[in-house]
Amino acid sequence: MPAAGPDDTAGGRPGAAARDGAPGGAAQDALRGILGAEALLTGAACEPYLVDQRGLYRGRALGVALPRSVAQVSRLLALCNAQRIGVVPHGGNTGYCGGATPDESGRQLVLSLARLNRIRSVDPANDSLIAEAGCILAQVQEAASQAQRLFPLSLGSEGSCQIGGNLSTNAGGTSVLRYGMMRDLVLGLEVVLADGRVLSSLSGLRKDNTGYDIRGLFLGAEGTLGVITAASLKLFPQIASTATAFAAVADVRAAVTLLARLRAASGERVSSFELIPRIGIELTTQHIPGVTDPLGASHAWYVLCELSSARAAEPLAAILTEVLGAALDDGLVLDAALAGSERERAALWRLRETIPAAQRKQGAGLKHDISVPLSALPEFVARGSSWVSTHVPGARLVAYGHVGDGNLHFNLSETQGAVRGELTARAAEVQRALHDLAVSLGGSFSAEHGIGRLKVAELERYAPATELELMRAVKRAFDPHGIMNPGKVLRAAPADRDER
Ligand code: MLT
Ligand code: ZN
Repeated sequence: MPAAGPDDTAGGRPGAAARDGAPGGAAQDALRGILGAEALLTGAACEPYLVDQRGLYRGRALGVALPRSVAQVSRLLALCNAQRIGVVPHGGNTGYCGGATPDESGRQLVLSLARLNRIRSVDPANDSLIAEAGCILAQVQEAASQAQRLFPLSLGSEGSCQIGGNLSTNAGGTSVLRYGMMRDLVLGLEVVLADGRVLSSLSGLRKDNTGYDIRGLFLGAEGTLGVITAASLKLFPQIASTATAFAAVADVRAAVTLLARLRAASGERVSSFELIPRIGIELTTQHIPGVTDPLGASHAWYVLCELSSARAAEPLAAILTEVLGAALDDGLVLDAALAGSERERAALWRLRETIPAAQRKQGAGLKHDISVPLSALPEFVARGSSWVSTHVPGARLVAYGHVGDGNLHFNLSETQGAVRGELTARAAEVQRALHDLAVSLGGSFSAEHGIGRLKVAELERYAPATELELMRAVKRAFDPHGIMNPGKVLRAAPADRDER
């Protein structure tokens, strides 16, 4: 599908004439009137909010708003809607697609949710809690744990990412296999709409079969339909026993077979199943202090697998040992080590979770966040690897991720001593080949990290035309003036691009 033309715009612009409140001193004064002077950052103080964590985008902004209440968010959006000021919601800035970074116009307002960071309530009997958008994910996990419950979303960035960002990007992580993505962990939402109205639906009901799933539209919308200010989240029984193993596998097909065997032997107890390539060990042992190779001998592929249960007396280690033993006999597994303590378990997870950081330290890289049906994963890896070695022989493939979900981060790293910029100059060509391959195998070009600004053209290329049309219609219905995170997920209207 060709890229969108000028008519293929995201938001219609009824009443778009209003240029009167053009951002600047007057708009800043009005914002200060709503927030208080210290809660509107301007000038150099905005700097940390203007660059995404990968350094792909550097924007400018009219200011950074730090509201303390939903009422302030509501008034602020009503003002921005009336004055046609683009609003860019901003959480922990840990996203991968530039979704929280303003554009280069200097006319957009960054809306940080950081000060809306209270756990409003915990209801253990209902297995739910209500958290405000600016709560750090680890804070939500801790609140659940205080109530002897589990909030299962687990990400490498959980110490700094915010729950509002997790909701808005429908975050995944390493427990999706068992608990689902963020979308599956939500019972209710509180959202401020583009015109300032507050949609409050935090009831915590598991059954509420009453028409269209309006709340669901905000999950994964990356702030383009409204601003999530709080959510009612599902809690689960705490984990009382785990068994964790690091195993070298013969190849990716063997990893997929091993997962099936583990599931057959233990049912829902498989909570994580992560693929790690040899280079993942090399990069982390080289760049991350304290990481060591769990097995010693070198193998091409490894898996980090974990079984867990709410029952303390579950024989998880015995199940894992038995399955791995049989897989060793059958040549699927080449070597394996079980974590003998919480310390050893944490060390294995540290290895896995620091692969992205180690890759960054290695130098420039290209990221691809693909998914395919599990049955097609070995074929994707075989064909993708062969394409990379033929067409980008100088790059090192760093393919790791959530095999259990059919989701791989099929990344490339430049070799040390490579000519600077050589790999990144080929980003578009490499992305095209790998995304085309994933889609041809029934997969997705963005399994986990969303669209943001980075993948707008990819969405236009791969989404069915009818789906795109419906997305644009939803955008128009929720945000007729196109003020909500313009240019993210869907291309902004040309006039929006001038103004915001
Ligand atoms: C991960 O699984 O570690 C993340 O999604 C990050 C990445 O793609 O690098
Ligand atoms: Zn991931």
